[in-house]
Amino acid sequence: MRSIRLGVNIDHVATVRNARGENYPSPLRAALLCEKYGANSVTIHLREDRRHIRDFDLKVIKKKLKIPLNLEIAPVKHMVKISLKYKPDYVCIVPEKRREITTEGGLNLKRNFKQISKIVKILNKNRIRTSLFINPTIKDVKISKDLNVNCIELHTGRLSNLIKKKRKFKNELTKIKNSSKYADKIGLEVHAGHGMDYKTTKILSKINEIKEFNIGHFIIGESIFDGLKNVIKKIKKKLK
Ligand code: PXP
Repeated sequence: MRSIRLGVNIDHVATVRNARGENYPSPLRAALLCEKYGANSVTIHLREDRRHIRDFDLKVIKKKLKIPLNLEIAPVKHMVKISLKYKPDYVCIVPEKRREITTEGGLNLKRNFKQISKIVKILNKNRIRTSLFINPTIKDVKISKDLNVNCIELHTGRLSNLIKKKRKFKNELTKIKNSSKYADKIGLEVHAGHGMDYKTTKILSKINEIKEFNIGHFIIGESIFDGLKNVIKKIKKKLK
């Protein structure tokens, strides 16, 4: 049987903590519980404005976590410096706009080719697994290959929104399917991320080429009612 990995994004544990300026709920505690309850990796996004995860979270989580830590960063010099300092197991490069509520789309690979290429080279040299958060298009998969990354993470936000709003989603799903198949064929490991809940996860789990799912907001939100242990268990069941 194919085993699909689950990465849990715990950014929004920090969002709740920061809302009151307290030191709880603790992202470290959440990361260690994700590990205990069967997540395959933990994801954190150190945004430039530090609106959720802060530098000390990265430091302690990297120190205590035994499963791989996936750090999401914008393609900028000082984030590379931080990555080299704390050495997460994985780095996923994501676009970042100050005003956005969340990561709104994939990277503009064409415009940022030179900068991303430089960063990927440094991370590869330091044996950090590299990934690019991209829109599900063949063109972007091809450019990702030229950028020499290990993996791509396909942005599933559009698909998730269509499904949640009960609108037609077949075209978007086909784009994700085709991009996944093509990426796999040319030797890129395929991941999926953004906006997923139980239903979207189940639908996307049928695409054999997707090896890793990175899910955050839904898992953390649903855990308020059902507990992290149950939610991770239920998401993992959808991935079978
Ligand atoms: N993958 C990437 C690259 C992201 O930027 C995010 C959001 O931070 C996620 C996955 C998780 O998305 P969500 O919180 O909507 O599940």
